[in-house]
Amino acid sequence: MELDYRKKLKEIFYGNNKKAYVHSFGCQLNVSDGEKIKGILKEIGFSFTDSPEDSDIIILNTCAVRESAEERVFGIIGSMKKLKAEKPDLIIGVSGCMTAQEKNLERIKKSYPQVDIVLGTSAINSLPGLIYEHLNSNRFAYDISEYADFSCRAEQVRESSFKASVPIMFGCNNFCTYCIVPYVRGRERSRNSQDIIDEVTALVNQGYKEIMLLGQNVNSYGKDLENDMTFPELLREINKIEGDFIIRFMSSHPKDATKELLDTILECDKVAKHLHLPVQSGSNSILRAMNRNYTVEKYLETVKYLRERYKDFSLTTDIIVGFPNETDEEFQDTVRLIKQVEYDNIYSFIYSKRSGTKASEISDTIPEEVKSRRMRELLEVQREISDRHYKRFVGKTMRVLADGKSRKHEGFLTGKSNEFIIAEFEGDESLIGSFVNIKVTDSMNWAVTGEII
Ligand code: SAH
Ligand code: SF4
Ligand code: F3S
Repeated sequence: MELDYRKKLKEIFYGNNKKAYVHSFGCQLNVSDGEKIKGILKEIGFSFTDSPEDSDIIILNTCAVRESAEERVFGIIGSMKKLKAEKPDLIIGVSGCMTAQEKNLERIKKSYPQVDIVLGTSAINSLPGLIYEHLNSNRFAYDISEYADFSCRAEQVRESSFKASVPIMFGCNNFCTYCIVPYVRGRERSRNSQDIIDEVTALVNQGYKEIMLLGQNVNSYGKDLENDMTFPELLREINKIEGDFIIRFMSSHPKDATKELLDTILECDKVAKHLHLPVQSGSNSILRAMNRNYTVEKYLETVKYLRERYKDFSLTTDIIVGFPNETDEEFQDTVRLIKQVEYDNIYSFIYSKRSGTKASEISDTIPEEVKSRRMRELLEVQREISDRHYKRFVGKTMRVLADGKSRKHEGFLTGKSNEFIIAEFEGDESLIGSFVNIKVTDSMNWAVTGEII
């Protein structure tokens, strides 16, 4: 059936210079889904544009993790009413995590008649059928079913020719009390390890230099599979693939950061010496209220284990500021933790209430301005740490994957080191996509500068 739709749509679109605008919000898993959506659109005859005004189909691939992200999307959909009025044949589709919530679907149906298609997070393969249905009936078409089959039957259109994301699992079983992800992405489903290894091998053979393995909690990879690999085993297998490339992954849940995993990272030469280990809070009472299932002490043991064995091991984290009823003391515990760990970088967010989650039932007494003040304090503390931290690289050499032109300095390129440190250095554009060795000459609080050697 699905193949039939693809064939019919090819007949309609091919050779007619049809353009698609696909915009993904949110995490890298969503970006990866956006690449799959592009793959399907390419197969049925679309090329791509960065401008919604020039497009014949628009897909907004949405994120539901915070309210601000959702409101932004509704704002954008609202502004597309004019485009649709000027170009009635334009197809507007909404996909991604927002579509998994009944209230969003209802709001789209009720208030945004310019939307023609809604595509659920596990229904990507239904896109051709939905487009066909909409074209035939000129009515709203949607599929938000939870399909077990999450393989994409079209070749992904990747954003980069040297960095590739490879989802290894979908969904999440952790139900952190603030988080909407388990509700919009469903339960954990791991991909077969051989499929992953084959995909990475093919990417490396095509010349990809950085492979990012993705999942909401990669450490629980394989737990739902019979007779397959654990995440450390998978890492070791991928590390054996021949070629000059670097392996990254995210995210890791601290409760599942076992010694076996840490040793694997330390021992595998291609695995980056960097771990994104979201701590969320430095207070045990808040961690308990968040249902995170680890303590600050256990987290610090992990940090110590890594840093004792690899001095420059890089750590980044996510922090939520202003969880319901977080006291000043509890917040100061987080500040203390940040100072103690000395992260290379933190990604901090003000708590956003998500309806349907456990935490949304707690009545919160902390005023918004207190939360904003805490956020500013946290960023200030981290700025000083990053500043100090980046200085440690001055005088050293580092191998970086050149990944683009510097936006700030003419003639300079940017790149990332094994430890995920951003570097800027003078160099020719032709180097983008390859590894270069640089000597670090200076540092800022977000990057180092260096010279190619
Ligand atoms: N699975 C990943 C995180 C996915 S969401 C993990 O567990 O690490 C990315 C980040 O968004 C989270 O780490 C958290 O810091 C933040 N986040 C999630 N829900 C949030 C909410 N309701 N309000 C504010 N930030 C939130
Ligand atoms: Fe959300 Fe927690 Fe799952 Fe991460 S581990 S996606 S924060 S529920
Ligand atoms: Fe957002 Fe969905 Fe990712 S809610 S963070 S896009 S899994």
